[in-house]
Amino acid sequence: NYEAKVDSLMSLMTLQEKIGQTVMYGGSWDQTGPIVGSNNGKLIREGNMGTMLNAFTVKGTRDLQKIAVEETRLGIPLLFGYDVIHGHRTIFPINLGMSASWDLKMIEESSRIAAEEASAEGLHWTFAPMVDISRDPRWGRISEGAGEDVYLGSEIAKAYVKGFQGDDLSKPNTILACAKHFVAYGAAQAGRDYHTVNMSEGELRNVYLPPFKATIDAGVETFMSAFNELNGIPTSGNKFTLRDILRDEWGFKGLVVSDYTSINEMIPHGFAKDSIDAARIGMNAGVDIDMMGHVYRKHLKQLVKDGKVNEAIIDEACKRILLAKYKLGLFDDPYRYIDENREATTKYKPEFLAKAREIASASSVLLQNKNEALPLSKDSKSIAFIGPLVKDEYDILGNWAAKGDRNGKAISVFEGVSEYLKSDQILYSKGCEILKDDDSGFDEAISISKKADEIVLVMGEGHHMSGEAASRTNLKIPGVQPKLIKKIREANPDKKIVLVLMNGRPLNLSDEVDLVDAILEVWFPGTMGGAAITDLLFGIVNPSGKLTVTFPRNVGQVPIYYNMKNTGRPIPEYNPNEDYKSNYIDSPNSPLFDFGHGLSYTSFEYSDLKLSSNTLNFSNEISASVTVTNTGKMDGHEIVQLYVHDKVGSVTRPVKELKGFQKIFLEKGESKTVTFTISAEDLKFHNSKMDYNVEPGEFEIAIASSSNFKFKHNFTLID
Ligand code: IFM
Repeated sequence: NYEAKVDSLMSLMTLQEKIGQTVMYGGSWDQTGPIVGSNNGKLIREGNMGTMLNAFTVKGTRDLQKIAVEETRLGIPLLFGYDVIHGHRTIFPINLGMSASWDLKMIEESSRIAAEEASAEGLHWTFAPMVDISRDPRWGRISEGAGEDVYLGSEIAKAYVKGFQGDDLSKPNTILACAKHFVAYGAAQAGRDYHTVNMSEGELRNVYLPPFKATIDAGVETFMSAFNELNGIPTSGNKFTLRDILRDEWGFKGLVVSDYTSINEMIPHGFAKDSIDAARIGMNAGVDIDMMGHVYRKHLKQLVKDGKVNEAIIDEACKRILLAKYKLGLFDDPYRYIDENREATTKYKPEFLAKAREIASASSVLLQNKNEALPLSKDSKSIAFIGPLVKDEYDILGNWAAKGDRNGKAISVFEGVSEYLKSDQILYSKGCEILKDDDSGFDEAISISKKADEIVLVMGEGHHMSGEAASRTNLKIPGVQPKLIKKIREANPDKKIVLVLMNGRPLNLSDEVDLVDAILEVWFPGTMGGAAITDLLFGIVNPSGKLTVTFPRNVGQVPIYYNMKNTGRPIPEYNPNEDYKSNYIDSPNSPLFDFGHGLSYTSFEYSDLKLSSNTLNFSNEISASVTVTNTGKMDGHEIVQLYVHDKVGSVTRPVKELKGFQKIFLEKGESKTVTFTISAEDLKFHNSKMDYNVEPGEFEIAIASSSNFKFKHNFTLID
């Protein structure tokens, strides 16, 4: 019935008004908050703006909405969008961190809370989730995704969408989600942001497209086209991806917004000769909204007159935008998201903060724990906390932290441990800055370290070192921090040293693994980070996160990911050093930390893998089960992973592929049987003709605690 309403509204609209709906500009701000900038006010009044980004708060959105509703000919309400990526006010760990929880329920809860807070400040739309697969830690935006795996990435993508959009978009606490960046943005050459992507269609379909398709299955309402070119065609002007795949194959009915000026950027790409040409290409390719580019507003009318853009295409775009506004209920009440009371009472609710604390600990990964260095004891006489991130309340929120308060709201590690220990147990020295080449604080840090019984280093990247336009060629812990770690070890050869790492990407920790006893990867853990880290350091919570992205030994191994192809010359098991094999002469092929790796304070044993049958056919299912036993001294969660290897294909297949996982809780001494089912559907892939099919033959199967295992079981798929 919305369709009929939209059609009837559109029958009243001029071409210029329809074009106005396809235009997005940014909000204007002064010291006190969002204001109606003179240019914005003018554009809205003229019906030349249908959507806005970076305008929120009840006051700001009310002022802007009032103009659209009361001062334009048709009173069409505005749509307000914002980058609500890992929380709005209450900030959760960065998305790469949250993915390490492998906890779909928690991830959905995080985006539900983010939607509650964002919608209470007048927002209707988030530019999230980012579902780009990335296998390159040099790329700064790896921090915003769910890592390297197709299956896990797709499940996580769905969870975010469900949380943001809820079960009914017309409720004022739900917001539109946006699957971005369509597509293959995460495969930028050499990890350099915005860089060229060359990729076979098979790779595109088997690896990079599925998480986007998954968001459609979860009901996502919007998509964002990307900055990169794909095989020579910029993705914001790419009919193959935006029309043939997105609309025709997948039947997506929602709207597509460009990335920020990505339509204009087709000019420097060398694909459009000027902004008129860029507008023509963008609209014809199927980008409905021009974000910040000014090109649709300026040129579409003339392009229609000149017969270069068919008005029917603009009608379709306008219709999709108006439909979104109808679904949100904005035509019933344009102010339904604008409520002072809700705004004042919704942010930082205690239950949101409690959830943020829980998610931050579930997202952390215990990479190494020599001699059970962790957990620390509450009864330690003295612990030295050293490093530029110990007292940090700023970087801890990570990049794209929406409206998270970086000035005092977040719990630093220092605050977290101060709540738990007595002040005379805590020694502190900053030691150095994150990036500055300055070792003047080393002496103090070393002397503090010598006075303590145990040492906790809190180090890593600054929040601006990952995210957009933050690619790195060097994956070491930045600045002089590695030097300080070395000096502290030299000064304390026998002391327990724990490294707590905050960062937005896999780092090269090859030196640090030998220098410290334990490494706890906490990513940028968000508002409650310091409290969650304290929970983990002292064993109040048992770590359970597992990596969703491979940690390389060195930059030269990149891209490195668990589900590589075998090559014609794999390294033989019987002689890892055999010559003329696919290896390096100066580094092992294996990573430092594998996809799926993550330790616990307890231990889990896997036994008795059983298949219900060794043959599968196209219409049945088989089950694979394993017994998992908690053999250690603490209760804990374990993420149980199912992998399959399609041994021979009409195109070569990866050496292993994740096909399922379950996160289980086991009390100490407890055993559980974990069962997965496998059907032919789970084994499908795109072949060289791009058919999506499964091929009969031999498969290997394993249920394991990380991707580092050897297959021992097989089944056959028969026709
Ligand atoms: O949503 C973002 C996108 O991920 C990168 N460019 C800017 C957009 C809007 O802020």
